[in-house]
Amino acid sequence: MGTFITKAVTRLAAFAYGLFTLFLYGYLATRRGTFFKKRTERQNLELQLARDRLWNLSKDYAGLSHYFITLQSGFKFHFMSNAAPGSPSALVSDRPLVIFIHGFPDSWAIWRHIASSPSLQSSANLVAIDLPGYGGSESLEKYTATAVLEKLTELIITLRAQYGVDEGTQTNKKRVIIVAHDWGCVLSMRLAAEAPSLAHRFILSNGPLMSLAGSNVRRMLTSASKMFNTALAAPLSSRAPLLQALRTLGPLFRQLKMSGYVFAMQLPPTLVTYFLTGGNYSLMAGIHKGSHGRGEFTPSDEGTSMASSMGPSLAESKTQTANGDSYPATIKYTHDFANILNMAGYYRDGASISRWRKSPQTVANLHSISGGPELRRANSGAGLLDEGTPGALQASSTVFWGKQDIALNPQICLDGMADYLVADSQVVMLTESGHFTPIEQESRVALVKAVEWAVNGEKGDIGSVVQECYPSAKVIARR
Ligand SMILES: *[C@@H]1O[C@H](CO)[C@@H](O)[C@H](O)[C@H]1NC(C)=O
Ligand SMILES: *[C@@H]1O[C@H](CO)[C@@H](O)[C@H](O)[C@H]1NC(C)=O
Repeated sequence: MGTFITKAVTRLAAFAYGLFTLFLYGYLATRRGTFFKKRTERQNLELQLARDRLWNLSKDYAGLSHYFITLQSGFKFHFMSNAAPGSPSALVSDRPLVIFIHGFPDSWAIWRHIASSPSLQSSANLVAIDLPGYGGSESLEKYTATAVLEKLTELIITLRAQYGVDEGTQTNKKRVIIVAHDWGCVLSMRLAAEAPSLAHRFILSNGPLMSLAGSNVRRMLTSASKMFNTALAAPLSSRAPLLQALRTLGPLFRQLKMSGYVFAMQLPPTLVTYFLTGGNYSLMAGIHKGSHGRGEFTPSDEGTSMASSMGPSLAESKTQTANGDSYPATIKYTHDFANILNMAGYYRDGASISRWRKSPQTVANLHSISGGPELRRANSGAGLLDEGTPGALQASSTVFWGKQDIALNPQICLDGMADYLVADSQVVMLTESGHFTPIEQESRVALVKAVEWAVNGEKGDIGSVVQECYPSAKVIARR
């Protein structure tokens, strides 16, 4: 009974907080005057042009073309690449494979600045995917960890074959690098922890490692509750421990405040849709404006960012790639923002924390790519019987953190990170940058440098490499 009441109260509080956030955001947008603002003709035109640039399948975007892969399970992924999957040049070249994975509320297009880098295009096969339920990829019924990670893993294994990383009994013939941001980072951290053989290097930015964040939250709660008990035991001299307890919980309160939108995502679907699209997309518009940091935000930038979130419109849904492929038939492009509830599904269905129940096929696939000449991970202590920190990353990882991120508290997300890393891993603080590192001007240059470093064999220290273009970047943890 007790736990039932606790659960009911927690759910009610979460619901109330979600509702509060909905009204708060609405209020703020109204006060700023963005809520009742009509989108201008110019804005609508820029959006339409951008949707054609990003999603018209017969068009290339800065050296990248549109492709689809249908998995054996029948699921259709959309992605952009500078090399056709399965083509002789993709299979035979010795160029590494780089896979870019976006977050919320984006698509492949958040990588448009990085994946269009000529130096990267000439030295690697680049693939920027749309996650299930985003952009031009098919959607899932539920966004549980099992549903999402099974599809993502099958895609990566298929891409590895199509770009000549694994072939028959030979495997790891070239390097694979996974580059991810926000939700893509959260999911890729789970891959690095639970399926580390998928890539030789993970480059991860501004998404929480949920196991570490959970452990930090529990630690704060435990020590705060001890201090409260001390305070209660000696009520007369209790001011100091009481204050100290509250101070210990500071980061938690700050994170809760910043996470209001996560609670709003748990509301009934109609309210979630309203939250994400109401006031003519005032929330999206606000996020995108913020994503450009202190840089200029032109009407064309706004159109491109909105087009990245909204995916193909009815017009682009009828286009075809050079070899006659088209968008999944299951997406209803008649709705102007077809993916809205799929995006929210990641927050609603527990993709970040629920258990990933691997299918026998996935276990077999992961096993088959873990052999071969790449033995470094075995040396770094990621064997089957390894008893490291639960949820720790088991593949070499480089974490880039935009320090000015207003969505993620660094004490919760980064404290103790070193215990969650294996050999050849680093955490690099980008002191001047915010959450959207692939978009902001300084940080995206740093990310290009980091991917070049990984592609060209990781020569030199990543700290010095990144400092060449981002002088204040600092390695704050390494293994
Ligand atoms: C949004 O835009 C449409 C037309 O562009 C307009 O009719 C409507 O009043 C605007 N505001 C809201 C809050 O939907
Ligand atoms: C897509 O691009 C092609 C080639 O540029 C163009 O001819 C076509 O009209 C575009 N389709 C749509 C629906 O805009």
